Amino acid sequence: MDRRSFLAGSCALCGGLLLDQRSLALDRSLSTSTTTGSGSSTADTSSPHFPEGFLWGMATASYQVEGAWNEDGKGESIWDRFSHTVGKVKGGATGDVACNQYHLYPQDIAILKRLNQKSYRFSISWPRIQPTGSGTPNQKGLDHYSRLVDTLLEAGIRPFCTLYHWDLPQALEDRGGWPNRDLAGYFADYSGILAKHLGDRITVWAPFNMPWTFCYLGYGVGTFPPGGASYNDFLKAAHTVKLAQGEAFRSIKAASSKATVGSAYGMAPGYPKTNSEADCAAAARYHAMNNVYFLEPAVHGWYPKAFVIETPYEAMGFRAGDDRIMKVPLDWIGFHYYTRRIVSDAGGSAKSGSGSTFGTEIELDSAGGRDPYTRFHGVMPTEGPLTDAGLEVWPHGIYDLVMQISREYNYPVIEITESGCSYLDTPYEKENGHVPDTRRIVFFRAVLAELARAIADGAKVCSFHAWSLLDNFEWADGYSQRYGLTYVDFRDQKRIVKDSGLWYGRVAATNRLGE
Ligand code: FCB
Repeated sequence: MDRRSFLAGSCALCGGLLLDQRSLALDRSLSTSTTTGSGSSTADTSSPHFPEGFLWGMATASYQVEGAWNEDGKGESIWDRFSHTVGKVKGGATGDVACNQYHLYPQDIAILKRLNQKSYRFSISWPRIQPTGSGTPNQKGLDHYSRLVDTLLEAGIRPFCTLYHWDLPQALEDRGGWPNRDLAGYFADYSGILAKHLGDRITVWAPFNMPWTFCYLGYGVGTFPPGGASYNDFLKAAHTVKLAQGEAFRSIKAASSKATVGSAYGMAPGYPKTNSEADCAAAARYHAMNNVYFLEPAVHGWYPKAFVIETPYEAMGFRAGDDRIMKVPLDWIGFHYYTRRIVSDAGGSAKSGSGSTFGTEIELDSAGGRDPYTRFHGVMPTEGPLTDAGLEVWPHGIYDLVMQISREYNYPVIEITESGCSYLDTPYEKENGHVPDTRRIVFFRAVLAELARAIADGAKVCSFHAWSLLDNFEWADGYSQRYGLTYVDFRDQKRIVKDSGLWYGRVAATNRLGE
């Protein structure tokens, strides 16, 4: 397809199937009682309910909660190295201890059970299994996750395993990291080891958490480890990850007949700033790059149209036959929802963003001319209220995103792998140490009402995982953000379920948003 017909096609999509600027203009409020937009039903927060068997869950990630960074034979990860380097993480924080979940997992699983949870999305630390990224597995690492899985199953909770939530063995980074294509093979071996040892009990596997984020922030702009800032390295890393996703799918399936394999992509719906052809095309490029850059190659074996030029295959290191490696029949599609973007065409200018970061969200920045290929300007608006992490609260976005993915991928089974908000509420002594995080309840109630509406309109969503079970190590922001539905006092590791956690537990018990 030439550029002209691509632009025309993208704009037609924006005007109809994709996110619509007109519905956006109508939908200016964070109202939880009336909602306008592209859907046919109306959000009803008085009694929205969820289908029977809907899986209520919570999520965490190994480096953010486990601690025990050098115990039982674990190798160094890139996040260990990064956080131990002065100036990389806010406040000099590290994940050395984090929430100490490596040791305290029985009490964390008891909290999940008490809150009627049916699914726990956790990740496995690759350097616990293979300290240097390849070769014979470390039995103590395998035993740890085996106990964790058994404890979850005894509590009636589905173990949902993410294989890679960013803690690459440092030894593999020393061999070039994700831009090195060999990592696809190492990752396939690692995945196969886990499926062989845990695949009799784990049935739900997501190879990667937010692949765009760790490839772009790690290799494209350098705010995450290993701190690289080269657009070509980003392109190469992302290509290796797509190959690794395909290879992991095959090695998991080969080792476990019970396995279902999907994804845990980071997505944010992108609305064109105006109805102009240029902004609509920019929003389509944004969607291709930020939302489906890893999904499209899995489903179809091809790259989505994310670039204003022809797809730069050579810079990516693409080889003949890679389309067949990338393509795999995912059993379900998992993605996160936090916020949205307003997207415009960045024109001929090299600059395409403000460069500010919000946790793992980044205003797409090409200030240094790093991204000559996508040329869109993606901005997080501030029309809705902001969380303490500075993310705009825009519940309607989850409806649009779920419906868009449903339409584009023929109504697949969808798992919402994360959604949440950071608020810094602390225990309130005058009320027996409760954590009155009312704003988090407002957030989840509104997001879930929109999700219920998407389900009513035909989306096949089977689960929702709140981020996060615990306050934890929030990457480059250290401990300065609190996303937990459980408060953690990092001085003594005491956990206190916040009011939002208690509320979410009641929702899980009744399948309704209730009072
Ligand atoms: C997501 C990450 C997760 C956490 C939340 C706040 O993007 O997957 O680890 O940092 O953001």
